[in-house]
Amino acid sequence: MYEFYPYFTNDGSVGLYSEKDNDIYHSTYGALSEAYEKFIQPADFEKFFQNNSEIKILDICFGIGYNSKSFINNFIKNLYNATIDTNNISTVSCNDQIYTDNTYCRNPQLNLKDYKNLENFKIYIKAIDTDKILAFLSPFIICNKKKLPKNYKLPFKNEKIEKMLNKSPEKIYEFFEGVNLIFLEKICEKNPDIFKNEEIERILCDKKYREYFDPSICRLFKLDKFSRCSYTLLKGFSTFLHNIYYLNISKRYKKPFKRFKYSNFIFDLKINDARKELLDDNNVYNFMFLDAFTPAKCPALWTVDFFKLLFKHLNENGMVLTYSNSAAIRNAFLNAGFFVGKIYNPQMKKYTGTIAVKNKSLIKHELSEYDLGLLKTRAGIFYRDENLTDLNEAIIERHKKEVDESDLISSSKYIKSFKNNFVL
Ligand SMILES: C[S@@+](CC[C@H](N)C(=O)[O-])C[C@H]1O[C@@H](n2cnc3c(N)ncnc32)[C@H](O)[C@@H]1O
Repeated sequence: MYEFYPYFTNDGSVGLYSEKDNDIYHSTYGALSEAYEKFIQPADFEKFFQNNSEIKILDICFGIGYNSKSFINNFIKNLYNATIDTNNISTVSCNDQIYTDNTYCRNPQLNLKDYKNLENFKIYIKAIDTDKILAFLSPFIICNKKKLPKNYKLPFKNEKIEKMLNKSPEKIYEFFEGVNLIFLEKICEKNPDIFKNEEIERILCDKKYREYFDPSICRLFKLDKFSRCSYTLLKGFSTFLHNIYYLNISKRYKKPFKRFKYSNFIFDLKINDARKELLDDNNVYNFMFLDAFTPAKCPALWTVDFFKLLFKHLNENGMVLTYSNSAAIRNAFLNAGFFVGKIYNPQMKKYTGTIAVKNKSLIKHELSEYDLGLLKTRAGIFYRDENLTDLNEAIIERHKKEVDESDLISSSKYIKSFKNNFVL
């Protein structure tokens, strides 16, 4: 039986712990803020969209989808200054049309005309994860509004969100519910059988998980079995969601609808090993989010050989972003042909990850003399997986052997001598 352990992280969003991997999926400091800080903020999408109208994103290790969701949320909010009000979303249909009534736009400057501009943008996200259950549960994970402290402060600076928080703290999470609906539609579009998956139903209806899921959406599963909506599921998923929405979520039953079209958002969820998936992929991506488990435990997605594969799929002005600061990972990126830089978090005033690019001018924070020196120590010895098929254990074993047999100095010796030289 599938088991996972959810917990509320410090920003009120849900994080997961996997017993099998003995690892957390999200930092306790805030799953949602973390996704924003690790990937969205350093990617600088606002700048990207000043010159581009098409974007391809590769979300490696989708999990429960915070990174993709943060991107979509950021896209809608920051670029269009719009808010998603779930009370007014009727449904997201399978023709890629998001239906809304006029009150959808809380921002008075934004009207339906602006939404048409969304059509000028093309978004393609390929998300990959080996874990089917988690990926399919992902649209249902919600933030826990009740647990937010009264004078909650964001752990990052965002004036727009802060203004909104001051007015009404719980509003920030409306975005995410709206984005959840968008992902729900996208995932179910290709996988209507998700409603028939007993394991997902068990988790959603299980008492011990209940507080982590939105009750109205959980009801979808029961309705599929017991109500007239099950017939419409056969006819089409859009009608199904539409009816569910009317029965369970919408408080505005009889309002006439206007709609805007947004057909240029493709969300392609692949349940596969990322190595295999990319070998058969012809896409070239603008951004890659690499959010695999820690390299020491799961090196399969951190090897020089996997990075070579990423290199092939990265646009000339593209960017790979990851939370890892490890010398072995940075060295692997360099050996795979990338230029490598650091991610700086201005709020925390520290370096919080690594970017790998083909165009050096995209690097804002270069590796320091100290960082470069560290790559030449044993700590810089990277993982290898020439055939892109080895198990984590085999990759760890090979790496250990190489480190043990290496003549390079140890990182601790290097750090000591670097400090001494610095003092002298
Ligand atoms: C740290 S979690 C990712 C969290 C995720 N980004 C989120 O927002 O929930 C790591 C994920 O990597 C997935 N994973 C592990 N090995 C993989 C592989 N070889 N290919 C694709 N996904 C993998 C796991 O199933 C897990 O969901």
